[in-house]
Amino acid sequence: MTNKQNKKRLLTGDRPTGKLHLGHYVGSLKNRVAMQDQYESFVMIADVQALTDNFAEPEKVRKNVLEVALDNLAVGIDPKKTTLFIQSQIPEIAELTVFYSNLVTVSELQRNPTVKNEIGDKGHIFKGGNVTFGFLGYPVSQAADITFLRANVVPVGEDQKPMLEQTNEIIRKFHNYYGELFPYPQGVYGEIARLSGLDGRKMSKSFNNAIYLSDSPEEVEKKVKKAKTDSDTVNLVRFDEVKKADVSNLMQYYSIATGKTLKEIEKEFKGITSYKVFKDQLIVELNNFLAPIRARRKKYEENPDLVWKILKKGTAQAKKEAEKTMKLVKEKMMIWY
Ligand code: TRP
Repeated sequence: MTNKQNKKRLLTGDRPTGKLHLGHYVGSLKNRVAMQDQYESFVMIADVQALTDNFAEPEKVRKNVLEVALDNLAVGIDPKKTTLFIQSQIPEIAELTVFYSNLVTVSELQRNPTVKNEIGDKGHIFKGGNVTFGFLGYPVSQAADITFLRANVVPVGEDQKPMLEQTNEIIRKFHNYYGELFPYPQGVYGEIARLSGLDGRKMSKSFNNAIYLSDSPEEVEKKVKKAKTDSDTVNLVRFDEVKKADVSNLMQYYSIATGKTLKEIEKEFKGITSYKVFKDQLIVELNNFLAPIRARRKKYEENPDLVWKILKKGTAQAKKEAEKTMKLVKEKMMIWY
């Protein structure tokens, strides 16, 4: 028999900058849903982190808090099992971030590959590589997200690996200077490391190449029909590990929707003479996969008051845990008076 007390803790989060897509699903959502029975689970809507590159658009972040909550509930996050909460309403996270900022060097942050890539992608925000203090430092704030709950496991996409490493490094330093307090959190990574979007680049809202969990059947059909395919005439459906564009990305979507392996998919479509055969089946499978997700989303969408109630209750619960951790942190750091 397990109960809340002896369950290990899980924490993960999403930036509310847009609706969630298949890349989020395969990177983290699928695992967090599967793990919520076994772990004492927390899912955070990372509005403070979203503001690090959307500081000029607070209304966009605010609007997407509800959207991201809906996407989580839609894929099967059960509010009875998982505490859903809003990052900005836990001031202890900001407080911890300040303490941790002493345990990280600027060059460590500049070397973080995820941050580096993102700065590159966001040239329009950080003109000429002129990154803000807040954005460069978001891995520190992410360490605070994970440790305020003393989390053991963190289901995330593979691109978040450097964040987990940074968190573990901060914990090591904290323990070294102030004493043992935190478990070392482990990343649990999705089965597809980096899902390609419809154009072969990483699936991302900012590249406008995503299939969203909330897309209608018509949108899915339109996107798949428009998707580029290879110009092969034999063995049309085959996976290209390097290119991952054209038909390889579509095979990944097929795999997510059906649970079949890439090899099985190659076999299934061996000998077809037109990509239309594969695309038509992909549309069917994606829509079958998304149907129950859409149905759950609709149920909650029609009752936003219920969603806000879930978030309010979850945030109060997370805040309680934050206060407990903060008391211990301050004792260790000798800053209680
Ligand atoms: N950085 C994560 C992302 O972009 C979101 C996130 C914020 C997160 N805080 C977190 C994930 C803490 C896991 C744990 O997807």
